[in-house]
Amino acid sequence: MIKKIKVKSPANIAFIKYWGQRDKKLILPYNDSFSMNLSNCYTEVKMEILEDEGIKELYIKDYQKTSFEKNEGEALEKVKKFFGIAEKFLKKKIKFGFRIYSLNSFPKKAGIASSASFFSAIALAITNALEMERKISQKNLSILARLSGSGSACRSIPDGFVWWQKGKESSDSFAYSIAPASFWKIFDMVLILSTDEKKISSFEGHQKVLTSPFFKLRLTDLRKRIKMIRRAFLKKDFTLFGNLVEEEALSMHFVMMTQKPPLFYWSGKTIELMKEVLTLRKNGVEVYFTLDAGENLHLIYQKKDELKVKKYFKSHPLVIDLINNSPSIGARFI
Ligand code: PMV
Repeated sequence: MIKKIKVKSPANIAFIKYWGQRDKKLILPYNDSFSMNLSNCYTEVKMEILEDEGIKELYIKDYQKTSFEKNEGEALEKVKKFFGIAEKFLKKKIKFGFRIYSLNSFPKKAGIASSASFFSAIALAITNALEMERKISQKNLSILARLSGSGSACRSIPDGFVWWQKGKESSDSFAYSIAPASFWKIFDMVLILSTDEKKISSFEGHQKVLTSPFFKLRLTDLRKRIKMIRRAFLKKDFTLFGNLVEEEALSMHFVMMTQKPPLFYWSGKTIELMKEVLTLRKNGVEVYFTLDAGENLHLIYQKKDELKVKKYFKSHPLVIDLINNSPSIGARFI
C-alpha cells in the first residue's frame, strides 16, 4: 500500500435549493443555493492508495449496519468516473489503484444529501492521493466536488453556512462560506420516517425541470427570496428566515410534482408531520420544516425551543429515529 487517507465530510441542508441543471455535464445550476453543514450527518471515508492500478474497490457501511459491504454497482462506477474527472481537472495522471471504505452516519438516498457528503469526502481524499491537497484552493476543491455529478457536494467543502454561486461558467460556479458554524446557533433535526432509498435519483429529476410549467415562475420568485433570506440570515431574523425556508422547500417540491413524469418524494407521513409542525408553531414552538429529495423531514429551530422539539418528536409514532444537527465545519482530513 502506498498510503492511507482519512476524510470526514458533512451532509448539508439547503435553505435555498438547487433544483435543475442548465448544463448536465458541468453540473451548472439555474440559481444560487444556500445551505448549512450538518454536524451529525456525515460520511467518513478511508481511502487506501495501492500500487496495483487494477484494484478499484468500494466498501460501504450503511446507517446502523455493523459491517462494510462490497459495492460493485452504480456507486463504484460513479467513483471510477469521478477519478477520471479529477485526473483531468487536476491535470495529474492517476497511476494507482484504490480501496475505499465509506461509512455513513445516516440513511443514504433518503433526502439527507448522502451523495454530497460522500463525493465531497472523495474529492478531498483524491487531492491528497495526488499530492495536491496543499496546492488546491478551496474554490477549486468545491468545483471538483461539484463535477462529481452531485452538485450539492460543492457546498459540503467550506465551513458552516455556505453559498453556492451559480456562476457564468464552470470556473466560477463554486461554493464559499458566508458565515462560520459558530455564527448562529440554529439546529436541524432530521426526522427519519423511512430508510427506503428513493426510486428516482436527483440527477434524473434535475434533467426534467423545464417540463414543469411552474419552473420559470420559481426562478422569478427566487430572485426576491434569495435576497430576502440572505438578509434575514445576516440579521438573524429567525421568524422571517424560517418562513422563507419553508416557502422555498414547498416551491422546489411543487416543481418536482409538476415535472413530467411527476416526482413525489413526500409520503403520507411527511404531510402529516408538516401539518403538525404548523400546529406546533401555532402553539408557540417556533419550528419550521424543509426537505430535500426524499420523504424525511428536516426541522429548523433555535436553542430556546430545543427541548420542546425533542420532547415532541422523540416518541412520535411516525418517527423511526431522529438525528439532531448543529452547524458544522466542512470536509476535512481526520
Ligand atoms: O446534489 P444533487 O445533484 O444530488 O442534487 C440534490 C439537490 C437537492 O438536495 C434536492 C436540493 C439541494 O439544494 O440540496
